Amino acid sequence: MKVRDIEFGLSYSDVLLIPRRSSIDSRKVVDTNTTIANGIDLHVPLISANMDTVTEAAMAIAMAREGGLGVIHRFMTIEGQTAEVQKVKRSEAYIIENPYRITKDVTVGEARNLMEREAVSGLLVVDGSNKLLGILSDRDIRFAKNEKAPVSKAMTPRSKLTVGKPEISIDEAIETVDRHKLEKLPLVDRNNVVHGLITSKDLYRRRMSGRSAMDRKGHLLVGAAIGVKGDFIQRAVSLSDAGTDIIVLDIAHGHADSVISAIRKVKKELPDMPLVAGNVATAQAVGDLAGAGADSVKVGIGPGAACTTRRVTGAGMPQLTAVIDCSEAAKEYGVSTIADGGMKESGDITKALAAGADAIMSGSLFAGTDESPGFFVRRNGTKYKAYRGMSSFGANISRKKLDNAVVDPQDAFDIVPEGVESSVPYKGSMKEVVYQLMGGVRSGMSYCGASNLAQLRKDAKFIRLTHSAAVESYEKLPQY
Ligand code: XMP
Repeated sequence: MKVRDIEFGLSYSDVLLIPRRSSIDSRKVVDTNTTIANGIDLHVPLISANMDTVTEAAMAIAMAREGGLGVIHRFMTIEGQTAEVQKVKRSEAYIIENPYRITKDVTVGEARNLMEREAVSGLLVVDGSNKLLGILSDRDIRFAKNEKAPVSKAMTPRSKLTVGKPEISIDEAIETVDRHKLEKLPLVDRNNVVHGLITSKDLYRRRMSGRSAMDRKGHLLVGAAIGVKGDFIQRAVSLSDAGTDIIVLDIAHGHADSVISAIRKVKKELPDMPLVAGNVATAQAVGDLAGAGADSVKVGIGPGAACTTRRVTGAGMPQLTAVIDCSEAAKEYGVSTIADGGMKESGDITKALAAGADAIMSGSLFAGTDESPGFFVRRNGTKYKAYRGMSSFGANISRKKLDNAVVDPQDAFDIVPEGVESSVPYKGSMKEVVYQLMGGVRSGMSYCGASNLAQLRKDAKFIRLTHSAAVESYEKLPQY
């Protein structure tokens, strides 16, 4: 080895983006849409980390509502993780897959009670084979005197109903509901069997909120993590059955034979499932993981706020260099990159995106919110929430407990942690956090004259900072 052969690496705080002439007059017009893999289209390039103090269902729901993505962590049983995915998938949809149904001999009184109890304004009337016979709305029975009459006397019969196909898109549904001025659109197949229901109220809410990251059926997008050992294929299949939109195959050192073989196995079992693999930090690693079938590669060895990998092992790669090198290689292989960890503020996100990442993943930026798992603790009058590295001592102990190992924490000498257990101050709701972060990113893009992320990646230029330039950038008046 020669000293002159040692390469040079940069971190986010070693550079700034050079301001350029801009024709953007409002940051609102800046487009932050991004695609991670086929069908995984996000409105904001933010992904919450698959860590047990960051992403379970509540966080994933909040992320998707704001246009990003949450990746449910894997440090729980397969059943537990599957249930978290189901919670996200069931939380919102423009199609009600299991609408309330009654048969035609149910009485008006019984139907009224059901509508009141379940707080719905209509019921589908079906026969014993789940074929549609009509719709009963609360208006149909509002002034009905005979509580004992069958609903068949009050319902709107099938012959007078407009229906849709089960695979109707949200745009077609809006068009049909608007054209016929419908309150409810039952979805039936060729045999008139009920597959779902769309209400104009749900469609309106969706259209107005506009920014959610959704699948084709209008459910929120969600990701879920797996490892490379033991029952990981069984876990992947269970998560896929529950409707996860993307799987993240995630281990600390992703440029490993075990990861390459695991990618091949997952792709063989679930060929259509978008797959992210990582973590890596070099162009060669991107080539190897993409070659094995990964659709996206997660970049970051040791930059994370709760990581001690670089100190414990001596290995790692300055994150800006890693993102630039990996994203350059990713273009060649036709895969996307996710810059994972090490971003302390919104400016670092802009830098990661300008360096070539298609999206960023963070733990510490999203921990400490209303939606992150865990309890608040109060110290000296300030509220905090736990945040820990997934290779920390505590996370290792939790994992052993999950495997039903008998562990005496005082005697767990075999653990060599590569992360810390810490806490972060309370930040409020994810909505506010994402608003602030994306406000910064949009403004950063307009400083670069970029109206979308592709333009940012193409045109952005970095300048390296001297020590005094770094002092000038970062040492400011204290905040009160
Ligand atoms: P931030 O900086 O956003 O980083 O908090 C989140 C990322 O850190 C990684 N991670 C770890 N890295 N030891 C590590 O070396 C750990 O214990 C650890 N836990 C999480 C992970 O990639 C995450 O997304």
